[in-house]
Amino acid sequence: GTKLIIDTDPGVDDAFAIALAALSEDVDLLGVTTVYGNVPLAATTRNARRILALCKRDDVPVAPGAARPLVHPHPHEARYAHGADGLSGRAGVLPEPARDLEPVDAVTLLARLLEQTIEPITVAAIGPLTNIAALLAAHPRAAERVGRLVIMGGSLAHGNTTAAAEFNIWSDPEAAQRVLTGGEVPCVLVPMDLTHRCAVDSTWLARLASSGPVGAALDALTPDYLAHYREALGFDGMAVHDAVAVAEAIRPGILRTDTAPVQVECSHGPARGATLVDRRAAGVRASTDGAATGPFPEIAVDTDLDGLRAFLLE
Ligand code: BDR
Ligand code: CA
Repeated sequence: GTKLIIDTDPGVDDAFAIALAALSEDVDLLGVTTVYGNVPLAATTRNARRILALCKRDDVPVAPGAARPLVHPHPHEARYAHGADGLSGRAGVLPEPARDLEPVDAVTLLARLLEQTIEPITVAAIGPLTNIAALLAAHPRAAERVGRLVIMGGSLAHGNTTAAAEFNIWSDPEAAQRVLTGGEVPCVLVPMDLTHRCAVDSTWLARLASSGPVGAALDALTPDYLAHYREALGFDGMAVHDAVAVAEAIRPGILRTDTAPVQVECSHGPARGATLVDRRAAGVRASTDGAATGPFPEIAVDTDLDGLRAFLLE
């Protein structure tokens, strides 16, 4: 099975993504590392541990990572979408974890897990990219062991947090630029254009709720998030962004990808955090930009929408 580490900021859709990996039989979930994001680090860490406890996965180590971005002094939050505690105000109904938090930070745990394992490891980064950028800077040899880094983030058309920027990239543009342009790890970027198209509706959620206790508990975490999506997308359902990325992490090829250079806007103007995906032909790029050096990220552009939703439910 796929050896996987998830770096996350739960978050309702992160909770769905963690459960997907935690309950998939052919996945070897080696660890979960947390980052500030939708809510502050203490809350994302608590939420991640409780989701694992819900899935009876207290065997999975959890380590807390960055509490703020690399350069910008303050974290941004998304309580408006995920509720005050990051899980629609329902974190308290989840079981308490039996396992202690690891006594090391996220970057140390990532490096240890990467160095311990012979096979390549997939990392799913479904929050701001601060921990991953820090890993590349502090542990370049360990980072070489990452077989694939599947990132939920960015957008081709428009943002969800500002007019230009998607939340995870906007949270730490400098970290994202480092990860996406460094060429050290093979990246798969799963942008919000595709994750919005993969949104699940109330029928799908009702099926999840009736699938068993874990499905019912996950469904119970959605009220605030659903209210946000009713407003944002104007329909009775929600985007499960991070679960789409984890689906690709555990079933490579479930999303169709193109390969293209990506730059992240790091200025402090209105486009801060935008992902600029260069979709020109390679020959045109080379003739105008000089030596365009890769390897470039893969960008997820399409999927069998019903097949993907069925896979998530299963
Ligand atoms: C991303 O931002 C967060 O709010 C979600 O958990 C997801 O990772 C979507 O833009
Ligand atoms: Ca997230």
